[in-house]
Amino acid sequence: MIQNTQVLFRREPRGLPTVDDFEIVEKSISEIGENQFLIHNRYLSLDPYMRMLMGGGWTYSGSSLSPGDLMVGRILGEVIESKNPEYQPGDHVVGRLGWQTHAISDGSDLDFKLEPKQGIALSAYLGACGSTGATAWVGLKVIAKVSRSDTVLVSAAAGSVGSAAGQIAKAMGCTVIGIAGGPEKCRVVTTDFGFDGCCDYKQAGLSEQLANVAPDGFDVYFDNVGGEVLDAALPHLNKGARIAVCGVLSQYNNDGPPYGVTNTRLIFDKSLRIEGFVLSAHRDKWPSARAELEELVLSGRLKYRETIAEGIANAPAAFIGMLQGKNLGKQLVKLT
Ligand SMILES: NC(=O)c1ccc[n+]([C@@H]2O[C@H](COP(=O)([O-])OP(=O)(O)OC[C@H]3O[C@@H](n4cnc5c(N)ncnc54)[C@H](OP(=O)(O)O)[C@@H]3O)[C@@H](O)[C@H]2O)c1
Repeated sequence: MIQNTQVLFRREPRGLPTVDDFEIVEKSISEIGENQFLIHNRYLSLDPYMRMLMGGGWTYSGSSLSPGDLMVGRILGEVIESKNPEYQPGDHVVGRLGWQTHAISDGSDLDFKLEPKQGIALSAYLGACGSTGATAWVGLKVIAKVSRSDTVLVSAAAGSVGSAAGQIAKAMGCTVIGIAGGPEKCRVVTTDFGFDGCCDYKQAGLSEQLANVAPDGFDVYFDNVGGEVLDAALPHLNKGARIAVCGVLSQYNNDGPPYGVTNTRLIFDKSLRIEGFVLSAHRDKWPSARAELEELVLSGRLKYRETIAEGIANAPAAFIGMLQGKNLGKQLVKLT
C-alpha cells in the first residue's frame, strides 16, 4: 500500500505564518477507479498566493482554506499507474493537486500534460516555462501591452515572476530596471538576468535611486509588491504609463490596516492606466505563452534561478522563507 504524505492547513496565521500553522499527515492511497490515474509528485511550487488562501482577511479569486484542508499548490508529477487511456505511466503532468507526495486524478484538474522540450529541465515547467513565466508574459503583453520603445520597471525582480517579466521585456527590445531587496539580489538581477539597472528598496531613498537610474521615467510598471514601493514608483511614471498589478506581496503578511498609497492623485495627473490581473483568467493564452517561453529559455534569453527545498516535510519552512525573501528565483520543493 502506497503512503501519501500531505501538508494540511491547520490554523489562520497572525502575520507571517509559522510551521505550527501547518500539519503533516500520512494517508494510504486508495485504489484508482475507472478513468483515473495515480501520480507520484516530483516537485511542488510554492507561491505567495497561498498566503492569501490562509486567511487574514484575504481570499484568492474568491477561495480560501479551512482548517484541515490540504494546502493548495501546483505540482509536477509522473503518472505511475493508469486506468485512463490518455495518460500512461511515465507521462509528466502539471496541475494544482496540492502539497502531497501522491495524487489521484482523472485529468480534469490538470493544467497540462507535459511534452518537455529537450534541453529544458522538468522543474522549469513550474517556473520560467510554467505558471510564473506565463504570468509575466500575460502581465506584459496582454495587460501592459508593452512595446519595444518602452522603459519598463519591475518589482520583486529577483523572484520568479519578476525575473521572467524583465527578461521577456528585454527580449522585446525594452529598457528594463528592476527593484529588489539587497545588494546581492540586485547584482543577480543585472548580471545574471541582464536588466539594465536595479534599485535596492531596502536601502534608503528608493525614489532618488529610481530618478537616477531612469531620468526619462518609466512607461510600464510591472508591480508585484504594491505598498510603499508602488508609492515610490508613481512619481517616476511617464504620462500615459501602464501599471500591471500582478500582486501585492508587501501586504500579504500585514496584520494591521492595509498600506494606504498616498500618491494616487498622480493616476489622474498623468493619465495612468492601472489594471490588476490573475493568470487563471487567461488560460487561453497559456499554450502560446509556453511556446514562446520555451524558445526564450532554449536560446538563453530567459535565464532562471531556483531555490529548492528537499522533502515535503520542509515545505512549510521553505514557504515561510520565501515570504521573507530568502529565495532567489523560483521556490520549489523536491518531493522525491
Ligand atoms: N496575478 C497572478 O496571476 C499571479 C501569479 C503568480 C504570482 N503572482 C504574484 O507575483 C508576485 C511574485 O510572485 P513570485 O512567485 O515570483 O514570488 P517571488 O518573487 O519569487 O518571491 C517573493 C519575493 O517577494 C519579495 N518580497 C517579500 N516581501 C516583500 C515586501 N514587503 N516588499 C517588497 N518585496 C517583498 C522577496 O524578494 P526581495 O528579497 O527582493 O524583497 C521575495 O523573494 C507575487 O505578488 C504573487 O502573488 C501573481
